[in-house]
Amino acid sequence: MKLCIIGSGYVGLVSGACFAEVGHHVVCVDNNEKKVAQLLKGEVPIYEPGLEELLHRNVAAGRLSFTTSTEEGVDKSDVVFIAVPTPPQPDGSVDLSYIEKVAREIAAVLKPGQYRVIVDKSTVPVKTGEKVADTIRRYNKGGAEFDVVSNPEFLREGCAVPDLMKPDRIVIGGNSERAVALMQKIYEPFMAPVLVTDINSAELIKHAANSFLALKISYINAVARICEASGADVEKVADGIGSDKRIGRNFLNAGIGYGGSCFPKDIAAFIAISEDLGVPFTLLKEVEKINSTQRERFIAKIREALWVLKDKKIAVWGLTFKPDTDDVRSSVAVQVVQDLVAEGADVIAYDPKGTEKAIEFQLIQGARVAKSPLEAAQGAEALVIATEWNEFTAVDLAELKNAMHTPLIFDGRNLLNPETVRNAGFQYTSIGRS
Ligand code: UGA
Repeated sequence: MKLCIIGSGYVGLVSGACFAEVGHHVVCVDNNEKKVAQLLKGEVPIYEPGLEELLHRNVAAGRLSFTTSTEEGVDKSDVVFIAVPTPPQPDGSVDLSYIEKVAREIAAVLKPGQYRVIVDKSTVPVKTGEKVADTIRRYNKGGAEFDVVSNPEFLREGCAVPDLMKPDRIVIGGNSERAVALMQKIYEPFMAPVLVTDINSAELIKHAANSFLALKISYINAVARICEASGADVEKVADGIGSDKRIGRNFLNAGIGYGGSCFPKDIAAFIAISEDLGVPFTLLKEVEKINSTQRERFIAKIREALWVLKDKKIAVWGLTFKPDTDDVRSSVAVQVVQDLVAEGADVIAYDPKGTEKAIEFQLIQGARVAKSPLEAAQGAEALVIATEWNEFTAVDLAELKNAMHTPLIFDGRNLLNPETVRNAGFQYTSIGRS
């Protein structure tokens, strides 16, 4: 089938590459000329395992192209996906101006006699589809036929390609049989369970799914506090409750809280829309509160051990919001660096992939950066693990101890084994493990 994806960010690019991989012809549209020029040269603006090969292969096969022209994309395609940003506003509600602008742009280039399915892939509050349809109707002077569909994405950064190629489920929210049939055809090659719903339910599924996952994380983090107060071990508690199939072990890893460009924004947006609808989702406010205080409690532990943080040399391993990505947006690891710098500590950070972006977006001003975990730890009075990169588990503990001024480790992701680390001569503090 012929598809157009407007917005070549995380979701748009990965979706475009995967749709092309299963044989569709895809035009990716972006209004950022620099990004499109980069993509046309074969350069990939984000780090995501497997994406570069997929893009190169499908461009070479003639199934994937890039342009800045919405008209070209809409003209060449049966189905047009909207995958533009939906950033948060200061009150937590979503800024839908990019979506609205794209809806007007699509309407302006729709030609009489054309039929197009307009699919919202960006994460949006419930009832956005209705507004997109109204907008297109208002600005579509030629009277072309169209239907709006909601098709939320469930990609995790770091494993977005396998998540899209082998999804747990595909959600298609549409009120027109013709549009839903086309969407089912697009997804046929993925051989995954398809759930067809109305538009509002599909939009809600996305916010409700992310909120539930965030709730699981805050739940285990709250349990971790009780473990610390009682001498229990949160890993064992998580294994014990997670082996009940109704609960599941995933997303029960205690740590310094969730971050990234999705959870914090989506939970705030879900709270805002629930308030708008007159049914405030107060449980999610507690989820947010546990999340932010989790980091504060962690910093307090460091302060308690080092007494004064000012002028202390502290190594921080990890800047990205999770491993296997270069994404540092709303990263708790970055916030930890900022907290330590704000208290006057001499922070030296290392991250396998995120350093460049952290510097580019001026997120770690006042901190220095290192080229390896051991370089960061050289002469450090404490080491903080803020992201659970696999690379950190391979560091030789004897070398690490030699490099550091004082052998103190604060593991915010429960990455290391407490017994091994303590046997190697470190004073070790983690989350919810006595
Ligand atoms: C999340 C969802 O998992 C995806 O299903 C969804 O499609 C995506 O948001 C989105 O809305 O686009 P992502 O933000 O890439 O994906 O990352 P996750 O793997 O969900 O991790 C989010 C945060 O939770 C990270 O900071 C991670 O460190 C933290 N986390 C995760 C924990 O603290 N504990 C856990 O047990 C799991």
